[in-house]
Amino acid sequence: MDITVSEGRLRDASVEVLVVFVFENEPLQGMVRELDDALGGAIQDVIATGDMTGKAEQVAVLYPRGAVPAKRVVMVGLGEKGKFTADRARRAAAQGLRKARELKVKTAATALPDSTLPVPEAAGALAEGALLGLYSYHGQKSKEPYVPLPESLSLVAASEEDVAAAEGGVRTGIALAEATCLTRDLVNLPPNVCTPAYLGEVAKKIGEEIGLKVEVLERRQIEALNMGALLGVAQGSETPPRFIILEHNALRADDLPTIVLVGKGITFDTGGYSIKSAENMVGMKSDMAGAAAVLGAMSAIGKLDVPLHVVGLVPAVENMISGRAYRPQDVLTASNGVTIEVISTDAEGRLILADALVFASRYKPAAVVDIATLTGACVVALGSVAAGLFCTDDQLRDRVLAAAEYTGERVWPLPLFPEYDKLIESQTADIKNSGGRYGGAATAAAFLRHFVDCPAWAHLDIAGMAGIDGMPAAGDDNPYIPTKGATGYGTRLLVDLLRRWEG
Ligand code: BES
Ligand code: MN
Ligand code: ZN
Repeated sequence: MDITVSEGRLRDASVEVLVVFVFENEPLQGMVRELDDALGGAIQDVIATGDMTGKAEQVAVLYPRGAVPAKRVVMVGLGEKGKFTADRARRAAAQGLRKARELKVKTAATALPDSTLPVPEAAGALAEGALLGLYSYHGQKSKEPYVPLPESLSLVAASEEDVAAAEGGVRTGIALAEATCLTRDLVNLPPNVCTPAYLGEVAKKIGEEIGLKVEVLERRQIEALNMGALLGVAQGSETPPRFIILEHNALRADDLPTIVLVGKGITFDTGGYSIKSAENMVGMKSDMAGAAAVLGAMSAIGKLDVPLHVVGLVPAVENMISGRAYRPQDVLTASNGVTIEVISTDAEGRLILADALVFASRYKPAAVVDIATLTGACVVALGSVAAGLFCTDDQLRDRVLAAAEYTGERVWPLPLFPEYDKLIESQTADIKNSGGRYGGAATAAAFLRHFVDCPAWAHLDIAGMAGIDGMPAAGDDNPYIPTKGATGYGTRLLVDLLRRWEG
């Protein structure tokens, strides 16, 4: 759907549907009031009947019968004016545009609600919510051609000033939504399509389109880097691994702060010889959701030209079984020399992240953030309500929490107590890759820490949030998050974190 901003009035907009936002217990204002006047009080009538009072996410449709050029009016409730936030705007826009799609209309127009949110922020949230709400994955269905509707949304603003302010916000909202939809598509793709090589090609395409520096390392180059942990996981698969590097502002690395993002890219997780049950294996095509979030985030970071040197790292590997596969009790040597006893070949995510985190240090970053569908234990702890956040630095933790608050992509801090290190001590190597059932999310984080060498590190365990088949639905009750399949979680969180970075 195309979104444009123009100066005008809702009552004059010649479209198939007007999406009109209404606060609860508030008199109609501005353009909506004018529209209501032109309609002889029809909007007010709907409110008076009590059918649609402006409560959050209520929807009603009314028909102007020639009183204005528009064919339909979709009213969407915003809740109480005093509680209005960007997230309310996202949800309301999603709901309004989904209703428009249900009505099979091609053209829609809307206007910003009268609120205390700055115009760019409100306009951005509307665009973001509308596009996220209209997302659908068409998959490989051969008989149902997908027709994207509506085709256009016109955001009508009252003054030239508002038009200019709204346009900037809309551009940001579009970038965030498109990046998130890219993430969702990658996570939804089947594992025979979305291989490590495929992720490498996607990264190259993003790089060409947006102007990022991209390098995709193949097995021989990965061997030259001594990434023994990553290669251990990769050795059982006929599908070769990739190590993907995307860089925004590569030429300004010396005068901008550097942040490295790392995403787990297991394109299918069978569990290896510590094989998963048939039931638990379904959903494991999405074990690259962290990688997809990093790829999506890098595309938006480039588009929005965030004033930082940002490096995205994606170790991409398939965890399979064969005569060449790694075994429990193998000892692997990571690229920083740390030796790892393999207890479970199903604890593979931390192995590929280990070498990626070591690689991150070469950029001397101010901060490293990794994102991974790492443990079932994190889903046991937090369900699909929040991602687990492990962080070595208070300021970084507060920044991630602020980004979570703004984007609605919830996180919750979990501990890095030294006692967890005891649980991953090994008899035969420096550490082992599993600490057993108890505290599974925390022992995974304790493991990763052995490979981190930078002033601030945050680890996001998103196993419950990515929208993996078989996990509890993460988008329940949220009209801009799909209830089935990928949520795109993490993309907006990472972009928001870096967009607001200061110092
Ligand atoms: N990819 C899984 C974690 C996962 C489980 C993500 C369910 C999404 C939904 C990960 O590689 C894994 O298998 N973790 C093991 C670790 C254990 C062997 C220490 C787990 O959580 O059981
Ligand atoms: Mn696994
Ligand atoms: Zn995994």
